[in-house]
Amino acid sequence: MSHSLPQATVTSDVEEICLAYGNRPDALIEILYDIQNKLGHVPESTLPVIAEALNLSRAEVYGVVTFYHDFHLNPQGQYVIKICRAEACQSAGGFEVIAALEKALKIKLGETTKDGKITLEAVYCLGLCPMGPAALIDGKPKAAIKPDKVKALVKELA
Ligand code: FES
Repeated sequence: MSHSLPQATVTSDVEEICLAYGNRPDALIEILYDIQNKLGHVPESTLPVIAEALNLSRAEVYGVVTFYHDFHLNPQGQYVIKICRAEACQSAGGFEVIAALEKALKIKLGETTKDGKITLEAVYCLGLCPMGPAALIDGKPKAAIKPDKVKALVKELA
């Protein structure tokens, strides 16, 4: 796994990826995607390396990584539950489903269970608005989730 790689290896991988794009700051998004594909996430320790290579500030790189929900600063779990936090799902009971998920998994949104199995993430609309609360569970859409069914859902994954 990426987080077990020595920092020097991670640094040289990142430098290599930046160089493949000519160290162009306008290629930041593509560079971040390549880093995430290679390492599984975009470790915080790589942000200064990217900033230096592209001649950007660390804050600029950090801002982009945290703005796009597709980028992850921490390793993802084996399974990812993406729960919709957009308005239609929230008014259909999304808050209760999120609370039930957090309780069942003993983590907060954006975190991964201690055993590395399940990551819980927010998404903003999955196109299932009339059938909310909706989620993507391990890549599969799931609609009309009820808080009292959350435990069973989590058990299935675990
Ligand atoms: S608002 Fe949740 S799927 Fe659209």
